Amino acid sequence: MAVAEKARKLKAEGRDIISFSIGVPNFLPGEHVYQAARDALTRDSGQYGSNRGADALLDAFLRHIEALGLTGYTRANVSTGIGAKHILYNLAETLLDEGDAIAFPAPYWTTYVDIADIVDAKIVQLPCPATQDYKLTPAQLDAALSAHRPKVFLFNNPSNPTGMVYTRDEIAALAEVLVKHPETWIVTDDIYNRMLFDGLEYVNCMQAKPELRERTVFVDSLSKTYGMPGWRVGFMAGPEAIARAVTTLNSNHITNIPEVVTAAAIAALTGPQDVPAAKNAEFQAKRDQVLAAMAEIPGVVCPRPQGAFYVFPDISCAFGKSHDGVKIDNDVDFCNALLEAKGVACVPGSAFGEPRALRISYTCPTPQLAPGLQRIQEFFAELT
Ligand SMILES: Cc1ncc(COP(=O)(O)O)c(C=O)c1O
Repeated sequence: MAVAEKARKLKAEGRDIISFSIGVPNFLPGEHVYQAARDALTRDSGQYGSNRGADALLDAFLRHIEALGLTGYTRANVSTGIGAKHILYNLAETLLDEGDAIAFPAPYWTTYVDIADIVDAKIVQLPCPATQDYKLTPAQLDAALSAHRPKVFLFNNPSNPTGMVYTRDEIAALAEVLVKHPETWIVTDDIYNRMLFDGLEYVNCMQAKPELRERTVFVDSLSKTYGMPGWRVGFMAGPEAIARAVTTLNSNHITNIPEVVTAAAIAALTGPQDVPAAKNAEFQAKRDQVLAAMAEIPGVVCPRPQGAFYVFPDISCAFGKSHDGVKIDNDVDFCNALLEAKGVACVPGSAFGEPRALRISYTCPTPQLAPGLQRIQEFFAELT
């Protein structure tokens, strides 16, 4: 957000800025979503709604996750929130008491740290550098769960910020470890589950080990899949007691998702899926373009993402060098110098717990991608 703010400021000053910094899709939902919202306005009750979510919305979500292979849930297993962020916050309030440990792989989505801090949880980061493709290994997970006995293991697949996706075998191996640690709840923040490339399929640890279902909470959102981040609709599916607790929290802060938003959300989940499908194809092509550009830069190590819309190159080869007299000692220096010199905004990896990298979000308008990448290449070539 801070990088985006600086980029906006430079843009307002008349600079030619290309933004690779914001983690939102660059598309709007289909017309059927807007039509559903307009229709809902004409029959709006204006009243409070269900704390859990309208039945029709819960049913639409249940059908949606059945297509992912998450079957057998009922309305009692699910709840809604103002985006996945709110669901994650509610889950932290539900599952964590002060001093409880929460473990998650790093790089991680920035908000995990903040939410854990708010509930005074103890954070256990599991470092997964570029050399291990930013992926958690079963041995690493086993060691962390044995040593720290965290109350919650928070897992994010596909990943923001790395775009990495765990294969069926990798998930099965992690699930094998998780069954050995029954004291740990598992939260799978898998909101990019429809954004997979190269023919990969989404797999959840519960599919590998069904017995994990009684302590696993699946988190989903409309934000990325349907180009609806500002509509603020998130979901969870898990044990009934957890869904009930999240619903109780809702009843005491948000009360309900508004009727118009509910109608739009149902339309997105149940209507034509051509917009997300087309965007996925576009993102895969853009991923290839970014990777090709990174491969041409000597010293940059860039694991191959297979989902979401992020590339997370390790740019530590630039540390200790200078650009136009500006010393680059770390990722923040790098991103600042790149923005000032070339007008390209990226997010420093330290925002995600990996200070050797930066995040490129490639949802920018397609014509901006090639020039933006070229400017990054020029920047590297000019380092002394
Ligand atoms: C991994 C991850 N989880 C959750 C969220 C929050 O999504 P929402 O817009 O549904 O709150 C984001 C948003 O960037 C994310 O990247």
